Amino acid sequence: MKEYILSIDQGTTSIRAIFFNHDGDIVSVFAKEFSQFYPASGWVEQDPLEMWSVTIEVIEKAMKKSNIKEEEIIAIGITNQRETTIVWDKNTGEPVYNAIVWQDRRTAEYCDQLKADNPEIEAVVRNKTGLMIDSYFSGTKIKWILDNVEGAREKAENGSLLFGNVDAWIMWNLTGGKVHATDYSNASRTLIFNINELKWDEELLKVLNIPASILPKVQESSGIFGTTAKIFNREIPIAGDAGDQQAATFGQCCFEKGMAKFTYGTAGVMTVNIGDKPFLSNNGLTTTIGWGLNGKVEYLLEAVAFSAGSAIQWLRDEMDMLDESPDSEYFAMKTKDSNCGVYFVPAFTGLCAPYWNSYARASIVGIERGTTKNNIIRAVLESLGYQTRDMFDAFSQDLGERLSILKVDGGACNNNLLMQFTADITNVDIERPDNTETTAAGAAYLAGLAVGFWKDQAEIVNKRTVDRVFEPKMDEAVREDLYKGWKRAIRSTLEWAND
Ligand code: G3P
Repeated sequence: MKEYILSIDQGTTSIRAIFFNHDGDIVSVFAKEFSQFYPASGWVEQDPLEMWSVTIEVIEKAMKKSNIKEEEIIAIGITNQRETTIVWDKNTGEPVYNAIVWQDRRTAEYCDQLKADNPEIEAVVRNKTGLMIDSYFSGTKIKWILDNVEGAREKAENGSLLFGNVDAWIMWNLTGGKVHATDYSNASRTLIFNINELKWDEELLKVLNIPASILPKVQESSGIFGTTAKIFNREIPIAGDAGDQQAATFGQCCFEKGMAKFTYGTAGVMTVNIGDKPFLSNNGLTTTIGWGLNGKVEYLLEAVAFSAGSAIQWLRDEMDMLDESPDSEYFAMKTKDSNCGVYFVPAFTGLCAPYWNSYARASIVGIERGTTKNNIIRAVLESLGYQTRDMFDAFSQDLGERLSILKVDGGACNNNLLMQFTADITNVDIERPDNTETTAAGAAYLAGLAVGFWKDQAEIVNKRTVDRVFEPKMDEAVREDLYKGWKRAIRSTLEWAND
């Protein structure tokens, strides 16, 4: 009999259902984009009911595409856009408000106020959660819903509401409302989870006025969470769950200390495995839980560029400069190597590590009369490389040594011009695997390990093969000159934001 693991990859702009066979190969995939809402400046929302119906649709279509039968599905792994916050009524299954997306900055002023009112709180939060007080994370988004949606706080206090990130929402629906759970990696992005003690933190819940009764149970990323009660006619175990960046790190087999990956999704996220003891960055990076597996927790140091793939989507959807995102390589190739001094800073929803500025917005500098559409497209692609360089330098300082190789994955890593530029500007080898769907693979591996579909991590390492390594070719003086220009562009963007 054929046997597969189903991976549900619930990303920021699209949902994919991907089936993996025992060799770790993809046998079927179906993806669909879903709606994004921008109700006010800096606000980003999604409809949880649409997310759930698109999830059902992509699973059914992926099964149909390759004639996969229910009884061939051994287990399910879930991976998701992190931090995005959903609060729903456990009796009706109705969300009390739209999902507040991780990109949403509506609580930025509240975060500033919290720090101003209580100067010690920043260090408390940092030590307990590994994060910064920032509107990016779930904690202040939960508080916003409870404070602003009529009747929500009362309902939460009397135990009728549940909170979850998108993994917990999908899982609750898949299990017909029986399981309200999440994993360590997702919990570690909420601002209310103690990553040292591995539990929801009472002090932080008090600070944000969040009742503990709404929180999901937290467990290891690989293990049985529950079984399906919807979509399928049989009970299929949900056996893996991890935030998308942690799943991608797992899918890239970054199992040893010092191994690093960069994922190109809506955001661009670099993570480095730091082993089983967390430590804090001095350079604006967050410390986060990678996964819990076999009674052991691995930690990551992480840096996020809020806009990576979304900057290319912006060229496609709002600027009408591209029919398809991959066309960006063709147009960018038409420019001269130096891009004539044009820089784009993709701060659509603020700047994250290492700058942490919620009020920054995107900017273009260096435009001349002769600047073309191709220069703008190239500047957008190069901005992804420059952001990687910013992160790379911060990691090197925290780790006390330069990383020797960066594994890449996600949509935009198929853009060769972007990969070569990133190798050049960071001065490090960039390694692209054959399977660039590593987020989905990571969730599948976590689920497959839990049910014995794969024996151990060593078996998984053998399944990863490399497509290409991009080596740095740029002259040192050119590299530093270009990077100096990026730093100037960043300075002017921050000055605008802070003025
Ligand atoms: O923290 C945000 C991150 O999880 C988003 O991932 O793949 O949707 O860009 P992605």
